[in-house]
Amino acid sequence: MTAMADAAAASTPKSPAFIRRYRPGDFDDVSRVCLLTADAGGDATGLFSSDDLMPDVYVRPYLLLESRFAWVVESRGAARGYIVCAPDTRAFVARYREEWLPRFVREHDGVEGFDGEERKLRGAGVTPERMLSPEVDAYPAHLHIDLLPELQGQGWGRRLMQTLVAALSAEGVAGVHLSLAASNTGARAFYDRMSFVELSSSTAESPTLGLRIS
Ligand SMILES: CC(C)(COP(=O)(O)OP(=O)(O)OC[C@H]1O[C@@H](n2cnc3c(N)ncnc32)[C@H](O)[C@@H]1OP(=O)(O)O)[C@@H](O)C(=O)NCCC(=O)NCCS
Repeated sequence: MTAMADAAAASTPKSPAFIRRYRPGDFDDVSRVCLLTADAGGDATGLFSSDDLMPDVYVRPYLLLESRFAWVVESRGAARGYIVCAPDTRAFVARYREEWLPRFVREHDGVEGFDGEERKLRGAGVTPERMLSPEVDAYPAHLHIDLLPELQGQGWGRRLMQTLVAALSAEGVAGVHLSLAASNTGARAFYDRMSFVELSSSTAESPTLGLRIS
């Protein structure tokens, strides 16, 4: 290498992380990111009877049923952030009930014998119709986005969101919505910056936000 090429290589900005489409080999890494961010943005490890419960409710069905609308941030050889989305929530609910629910029930049983937060989470797992918010026709898609702490605050959330919105726009999807924990003030600030607005069904305890796309 010449001295000039050497200098050029040294000054080339390194790209330690990048966005790419989800691949089936990312399944466990994405599940791990979900678990490590599922307690209103913090680590949910050990909070429930199984560490598989959170990923089985909030990310794995999307990876299996809607992998076309899943992207990851790869960093140091592994997926350390993701965005997943059901572009048509009504269709997703039907497929969840048909294709995912039997597996969920086999793995986790139902809600009987559980109470508190565990019962609520299991209830969410066995009730896909919870996803049918009153605004589902105006905002047919819904999403989940999570990054490990090492990737937060560097613009990856914005870039993942832009990637998803471009894909939804290309398919003519009118809008996207999401729900979040009321205590997750960091995420709320992020969605505000992404121009999401509060939907009429939103409550202080259970905020629901939406973004019109086309
Ligand atoms: C919420 C999350 C996806 C945001 O992604 P991110 O990469 O950290 O956010 P970005 O760096 O792209 O920030 C985009 C904008 O949002 C703002 N923002 C992001 N996180 C914020 C926070 N915690 N507090 C205040 N503002 C925040 C940024 O300041 C930035 O604003 P700007 O447009 O004025 O520059 C990410 O922090 C995360 O995964 N958190 C933990 C898991 C989680 O809570 N997921 C959401 C569950 S509903």
